Amino acid sequence: MYVKYLRLKNYRNYDELDIELNSKVNVFIGDNAQGKTNILESIYFCSIGKSHRTSKDKELIRWDQREASMSVYVAKERLDKKIDISIFREGKKSMTINTIKVSKVSDLIGTLNVVMFSPEDLKIVKESPSHRRRFMDIELCKLNKKYYYNLVQYNKVLDERNSALKKWRQINDDILDIYDEQIAGYGRYIVSERQKLIDKLNEKGSQIHRDITSGNEEIRFKYVTCGAEDIGKKLRENREKDFERKTTSTGPHRDDFDISINGIDTRSYGSQGQQRTSVLTIKFATIEIIREMTGEYPVLLLDDVLSELDINRQKYILNSINSIQTIITCTGISDIKEYLDGGAAIYKVSSGSVKKSE
Ligand SMILES: Nc1ncnc2c1ncn2[C@@H]1O[C@H](COP(=O)(O)OP(=O)(O)OP(=O)(O)O)[C@@H](O)[C@H]1O
Ligand SMILES: [Mg+2]
Repeated sequence: MYVKYLRLKNYRNYDELDIELNSKVNVFIGDNAQGKTNILESIYFCSIGKSHRTSKDKELIRWDQREASMSVYVAKERLDKKIDISIFREGKKSMTINTIKVSKVSDLIGTLNVVMFSPEDLKIVKESPSHRRRFMDIELCKLNKKYYYNLVQYNKVLDERNSALKKWRQINDDILDIYDEQIAGYGRYIVSERQKLIDKLNEKGSQIHRDITSGNEEIRFKYVTCGAEDIGKKLRENREKDFERKTTSTGPHRDDFDISINGIDTRSYGSQGQQRTSVLTIKFATIEIIREMTGEYPVLLLDDVLSELDINRQKYILNSINSIQTIITCTGISDIKEYLDGGAAIYKVSSGSVKKSE
């Protein structure tokens, strides 16, 4: 699939934008703070109904305006789709696919699939488990509506259990029995789907990582979980402790996955370059997983990441993107120019306006 055009109105620093995109490589060049990431963000928003950098939709509305809107036309193997989204300052948003209203984000997801790779993704490797859970959850929600449903329900019951732990010390054993049973049910599904995702990450990622590192490094991913089967039992066993801590100490909301290179933990011991390369592997493996599960390649969004990688990694990326629409942002093109074939479209971004270079 690829994005054929993008239209923005009152979106961040764009008053109006109307651009056609190439089905292969598109490069947006501009100085800092001109609106490059804003373009990728709006495409990402059309994919999963939220921004990759804020949970407050309001921030996307141009400062002096009431409403922001974005449209993408997605050319797909079977039926093309046009997505229109408007965000209102009062907090509502409206979404349509081929002019038919969709009321839930879960009905939008899957229409346009993207994989975004930005400098912040280094957090997946370097920082706390919450970043790795977020990665697993976002990818699984894109691929599987049932996962999305189970995750939403799980988080809802978990919130209720946590507030019960804070409030009613005496009477709530019966209520907690119900919560524990529900958490165990949704949790079992979440854990088993995450395990499958990590298995696929190993399957696709190991070859990719060998290719990037000329065979010098073996990457492994290992899901670290409370387990799918006895979540209910563990919740019961931990109940006293949970009352003291006023929070739920076991369950998939505490899971993580380890990343190792040649048997050594990448988070603690990996060099900066190895950590970056691990993210690159995760992203390219994700592209292959999406392709395997949906039959179509997603759109790849590369936000300012090329300049952070060494020349071999840059070459790997630019050689791997032949069959995928790729939208790249950078501040200068000199580094990558020689690897772009003549078909790449180049756009100059300056204070919220975009001009295509001829
Ligand atoms: N709601 C908004 N309304 C108007 N302008 C906004 C809004 N939100 C952000 N901006 C402006 O958008 C610009 C930042 O855009 P963006 O993040 O796309 O920059 P960029 O070109 O990617 O820069 P960099 O190279 O530094 O990453 C800033 O000038 C910022 O003030
Ligand atoms: Mg940027």
